[in-house]
Amino acid sequence: MALITIQPGQALERILSLEIVRVTERAAVSAARLRGRGNEKAADQAAVDAMRRELNKLPIDGTVVIGEGERDEAPMLFIGETVGNKKGPKVDIAVDPLEGTTLCAKNMPGAIATMAMAEGGTLLNAPDVYMEKIAIGPGYPKAVVDLDAPAEENIRSLAKAKDVTPGAITALILDRPRHADLIAAVRKAGASVRLITDGDVAGVIHTATPDQTGIDIYIGIGGAPEGVLAAAALRCIGGQMQCRLVLDTEERRVRAGKMGIHDPRKKYAIEDMVKGDCLFSATGVTNGDMLRGVKFGKEIIETETVVMRSVTGTVRWIRAEHRQLDKFHLD
Ligand code: FBP
Repeated sequence: MALITIQPGQALERILSLEIVRVTERAAVSAARLRGRGNEKAADQAAVDAMRRELNKLPIDGTVVIGEGERDEAPMLFIGETVGNKKGPKVDIAVDPLEGTTLCAKNMPGAIATMAMAEGGTLLNAPDVYMEKIAIGPGYPKAVVDLDAPAEENIRSLAKAKDVTPGAITALILDRPRHADLIAAVRKAGASVRLITDGDVAGVIHTATPDQTGIDIYIGIGGAPEGVLAAAALRCIGGQMQCRLVLDTEERRVRAGKMGIHDPRKKYAIEDMVKGDCLFSATGVTNGDMLRGVKFGKEIIETETVVMRSVTGTVRWIRAEHRQLDKFHLD
């Protein structure tokens, strides 16, 4: 009988895939306490504090490569901060403790707490700037859409690959004035546009399951940290994504240069942003299409989390009931 051998690194990674759930759960619960209070900063800070506390309990030697900002502007979970108890593997960490701060402050759908973890040196170390993004789900031929192609062409080519008319394609786009031309072009091609006010990590993930979400393609400019996190999720569940950092000033190019980015026009595919295996976790803060928000009961706090592992492509939906409320009240 063949014995199943588990390499130490692999075993740890399997354990960590559940450990990171705790990290996003705690951040989500802390942020959710401040839902609807109109205070983005306080909600974000609560999520950051809780996430940092949980990360520091993990058996990892972690470095934050996507975080709350660069060292001089973010006191916690800044790019370069080390996290974990150092008694484990070297890993890169990408965090967005509260993705959709405004959604949380206004108690609108779609705020999440999210993070990704990968082997040390394999996640794109990107400054907190804007990023051009295009993403579609799995099952299409390679390069069916291209970041540099006109939007009309991408819609037509995606429709052809899907064997539908452009009218059957829905594009998800952040509702921003900078996207006015893009939105017009997508509509001109015959496709439908679903606008979101915030939250493009979930926006990109929506493309992976078009039958459920009704979203075929994500296009537009959002945050670079959110881009890397979304790439980690697609690395686990499949799909295509192309991105480019918006390094349109000398100051931004210098900041990127300090992080080892010397080609400001580089087009990144998923494999360039997440070079190896990774784990991704997101917990709902407010109710959303992807995840339910935190529910506070008298004796139970309920959370919903999706956790993914690229090695196997496993996606777990974890609905948790937390009973040790005193612990959570510390957050
Ligand atoms: P925050 O949680 O930092 O507010 O980010 C929300 C978000 O909508 C992201 O999902 C998106 O990538 C980015 O903001 C877009 O930036 P902007 O609001 O400046 O257009």
